[in-house]
Amino acid sequence: MTLPRFIQTGPDASASRQSMAEGLAPDPAKNPAQNLAQNLAQEAAAGLLAQPAQVSPKFFYDALGSRLFDAITELPEYYPTRTEAAVMAQHAAAMLDTVLGATGPAPTLVDLGAGSCAKAARLFAALQPRRYVAVDISADYLRAALQALQREHPAVEMVGLGLDFSTHLALPPGVADDGPALVFYPGSSIGNFAPADALRLLQQARQVAQGGALMIGVDLLKPASVLEPAYDDELGVTAAFNLNLLKHLNRVLGSDFQPRGWQHVALFNEAASRVEMHLQARHSVDVSWPGGCRHFVAGERIHTENSVKWQPQAFEALLREAGFRNLRRWTDPQQWFAVFVATG
Ligand code: AVJ
Repeated sequence: MTLPRFIQTGPDASASRQSMAEGLAPDPAKNPAQNLAQNLAQEAAAGLLAQPAQVSPKFFYDALGSRLFDAITELPEYYPTRTEAAVMAQHAAAMLDTVLGATGPAPTLVDLGAGSCAKAARLFAALQPRRYVAVDISADYLRAALQALQREHPAVEMVGLGLDFSTHLALPPGVADDGPALVFYPGSSIGNFAPADALRLLQQARQVAQGGALMIGVDLLKPASVLEPAYDDELGVTAAFNLNLLKHLNRVLGSDFQPRGWQHVALFNEAASRVEMHLQARHSVDVSWPGGCRHFVAGERIHTENSVKWQPQAFEALLREAGFRNLRRWTDPQQWFAVFVATG
């Protein structure tokens, strides 16, 4: 029976070069998973002390946060997931023709932010990948999904790679450096990055593709009357998703946030073309964690997410600036969401 391989890389480049198979880390001080946890705690503390306070959206995704996000994708107000799925289903053949023209047959599929691996799994029949590299911040999150997928596709070599690519995207040696790959980055997660950081990530994605292709989902600019409810739904699921970040911080950082003291805020920042999410203190409060504390006055906010909404031409310019060529774009009839395919 074929089994997926799991690799957890450390928080910095030197650690990722020393990446090792799971279970082969005898010294806890050198355990990449533990380095990752320490690094995340440091990053969270630094953000809480910043002016204004900010915490990276990657802190949404503990086990409950990932389930709350899945629930968000079912909400009538949250259009991106179902719109992207419809665009991909309708144009799959043309998209994969373009991809295979650049990669050649049986490419490696590199899935950024793979999570449940469900979106990439839909590409398997048409793409026939030789190898599937599922990348997510923690290899543990990938374990169950990748094992199930491996049983369905025993001939595909599968690698679960724990890597925080928000700071730097590069695959460890030996994972996928043997020819053109398809880099798949669905869901408009690229929207979490400010344009300059998005450019850097796209440049790194182009290196990973090695002359192959990129397939990326991008949420487009649209009226605030559509955007704001998508991030502040009637049932309060997005509010719970945002507030759950405080409970996750309490675990990774050892802080003493009380979610009842905070309010979900979502707004469209037109000048920056992005939806912002914040957590706003309902009353003045002191928050402490090992090695630090901060006072928040009533109404003070922690900035938890940016979700940039692109204009199609602006995103194409970004792809070109990152070195991509042969840009193709597919959208839904309302032009709410775009899927781009470009070659490295
Ligand atoms: C996963 C980053 C694409 O920005 O729409 C959903 C996250 N935040 N509702 C997005 C999210 C609030 C989502 N991304």
